[in-house]
Amino acid sequence: MSDELSRPRIIAGNWKMYKTIEEAVSFIETLAPLIGKSQAAVYLAVPFTAIQPAVACVKKLKAKITIGAQNMSDAQEGAFTGEIAAKMLVEAGAQFVILGHSERRYLFHEGDAFINRKIKRALKTRLEPILCIGETLEERNDGQTEAILEGQLLGSLEGLSTDEVARVRLAYEPVWAIGTGKVASPKDAAVAHRFCRNVLSDHWEKGLGDKVAILYGGSAKPENAPDLLAQKDVDGLLIGGASLSAETFSEMIK
Ligand code: PGA
Repeated sequence: MSDELSRPRIIAGNWKMYKTIEEAVSFIETLAPLIGKSQAAVYLAVPFTAIQPAVACVKKLKAKITIGAQNMSDAQEGAFTGEIAAKMLVEAGAQFVILGHSERRYLFHEGDAFINRKIKRALKTRLEPILCIGETLEERNDGQTEAILEGQLLGSLEGLSTDEVARVRLAYEPVWAIGTGKVASPKDAAVAHRFCRNVLSDHWEKGLGDKVAILYGGSAKPENAPDLLAQKDVDGLLIGGASLSAETFSEMIK
């Protein structure tokens, strides 16, 4: 647990569009013995095709790894070629879903209102949403980081009750740090996380911000993980590139 309020510690891998079924299964077989009795919850957001085989592999090995997805549709079902529904993810064994990742926001033009509908759908379907938020370099240089974070939080979580917001995990991922090798300083990450907590407490209910787990993401690696995780407002990591090797990923879990 990351603090006295019992927020979970979560080390999550986001594989993006990497790993076939065979590669996913072999990764989990390598990772399972390496994580041992880790105190942190280990999450893996795998490609859709690998969800079911990954869940089966985790079960077989009795490994404490939670499998999830990287995106989903806002609709319950329908004529949406190429989309995937929350209930399909649940049926495949997914327990969480990453929503609003910056690659979805910027490459696929997803906005807060759309992400908001996905969050609501995930909660209704009992999938745990991990909502990603974060500013671009230009926005940071313009001194807009807080305005961007607040706008994304209020837009993506609009209409949710306090209890519902408490079921959402956040990932603060500065866009300029994703896949660039430029990690946010532990202090900058801590300041952003604290700011997000204050937004939740101010707009929903006093104290809510301290109940929500907030992960940091963006070029997290074994070398910078300890300093980031030492910040009391950083509850875990969402890891892209460094989650693709079981050895590297397990170092960060330890
Ligand atoms: P990165 O990606 O660790 O490769 O920077 C993080 C993410 O996109 O979630």
